[in-house]
Amino acid sequence: MITFKHVSKTYSNHVVALSDVSFHIEAGAFVAIIGLSGAGKSTLIRLINKMIDKDAGTIIVNNVHVDHTLKNAELRAYRRHIGMVFQAFNLIPKTNVMHNVLVSRASELSAFRSAFSWFPKALKLEALDALEKLNILDKAFDRIEHLSGGQQQRVALARTLMQKPYLILADEPTASLDNVMAKKIMEDFSRINEKEKITVIVNMHNVDLALQYATRVIGIKAGKIVYDDTKENLTQAHIDNIYDMADTSS
Ligand SMILES: Nc1ncnc2c1ncn2[C@@H]1O[C@H](COP(=O)(O)OP(=O)(O)O)[C@@H](O)[C@H]1O
Ligand SMILES: [Mg+2]
Repeated sequence: MITFKHVSKTYSNHVVALSDVSFHIEAGAFVAIIGLSGAGKSTLIRLINKMIDKDAGTIIVNNVHVDHTLKNAELRAYRRHIGMVFQAFNLIPKTNVMHNVLVSRASELSAFRSAFSWFPKALKLEALDALEKLNILDKAFDRIEHLSGGQQQRVALARTLMQKPYLILADEPTASLDNVMAKKIMEDFSRINEKEKITVIVNMHNVDLALQYATRVIGIKAGKIVYDDTKENLTQAHIDNIYDMADTSS
């Protein structure tokens, strides 16, 4: 479903974030991208969603060529069914959970309904369904600022489900959570991956957590892929190489 062929990205300050990266991800996979801070993990995620543009190579996602010709309505259509989850949950603290989940679909409302945040019943039912899938239905009318970090990340995930995504990209979704909560969020991703048949790509700093839930691991080191295989085949030697700061030449 996602193909990168010889993709490179250099930022305007001449930092080479990714160089000659190639891989293929099948629909339904649960992929963990691991590597040191600065390795290029976020860059890879941003390229998939076209938050940034590649300099070279080919990116094909769901049969769409993700390149400079993809813009405006076509770009919006491309992004519509790709869910994004971030370390910062990007919710509106002073409004309730339902509002935050529904707001992702506000563009479907007429101007009149939109002005009053007046969501139709069918959408509300969908939102409640998404909250139920994440086991936070009981928080539907609580304000975001009264929820724990883990609960907020669940709301963010529920909001993403409202997009009916075929793909969820998550950039360090557990980085601001404690270990217990981080595990729970990873379980949510895992369940969504299996039950809803949504492809999941998660960037992670924490290799142990990645290995517990992902089925496939891509290791990035200094902008290059140094591991791409099942988690079962990942050895300590591979991990040492991925996280070896001293040697960034290979
Ligand atoms: N917007 C940017 N402008 C310039 N350099 C950047 C930008 N974003 C990231 N970088 C640099 O690109 C490299 C890869 O960054 P990033 O993809 O964020 O890595 P990771 O997510 O693995 O920590 C780093 O050296 C980082 O400093
Ligand atoms: Mg990052």
